[in-house]
Amino acid sequence: MGAEVKRMKRMLAVLLVLGFLAFGADGAELYRTYCASCHGEAGEGKHGVYPALDGPVGRLATVPEGRTFLVATVLFGLEGEITQRGETYNGVMPGYGAVLSDEEVAALLNWLLSQWRNPRSGAGAKPFTPEEVARVRELGLEPKEVRELFLKVEEVMHRGQGAGHCQDHGHGQGQGRGKGKGAR
Ligand code: HEC
Repeated sequence: MGAEVKRMKRMLAVLLVLGFLAFGADGAELYRTYCASCHGEAGEGKHGVYPALDGPVGRLATVPEGRTFLVATVLFGLEGEITQRGETYNGVMPGYGAVLSDEEVAALLNWLLSQWRNPRSGAGAKPFTPEEVARVRELGLEPKEVRELFLKVEEVMHRGQGAGHCQDHGHGQGQGRGKGKGAR
């Protein structure tokens, strides 16, 4: 009996640690492990080969289509021609949906939003939640289909230029903590 209780206690401790790890997913560590080898320690990328994540990630996070594209790129990968800052990329990025949980993808993207020039380019972007990641995961896309999402983002962003970046979620300022979580 005593041994039984002891074993259960130990199991509970292990579960608590695992739970902590899931919630405490460390975006910086995830970035270093899975992304930095191509996109660079400071998100600088490599001209014509690996697009930069310093700046573009923030900008993409300000429109719904861009958010879906960001999450989908991390989960499913990306293949086909895209442009960034006037430069063309036509490579293949592997997807990480099989190794990263929804919590980890959200933590990783939120860490990116806090880095380099992304806080400025992404001013007003809401944090990513595991639920948002889960909704994109359900789409189950191929890397080439993620590239089609990119084309859609470009269209939206160019159309929206000058008109403010987001007509459909009007919460630029003080996100009214407490009241109706999330506004949407
Ligand atoms: C093996 C190299 C490699 C790794 C590792 C990698 N990527 Fe990529 N990534 C690419 C390539 C190549 C592209 C461009 C693909 C294309 O041309 O269609 C890309 C594109 C992107 C884009 C789109 C950028 C834009 O402005 O359109 C994002 C966002 C991105 N990667 C994020 C990540 C994140 C986050 C990780 C870590 C989970 C990661 N990548 C890991 C190679 C990589």
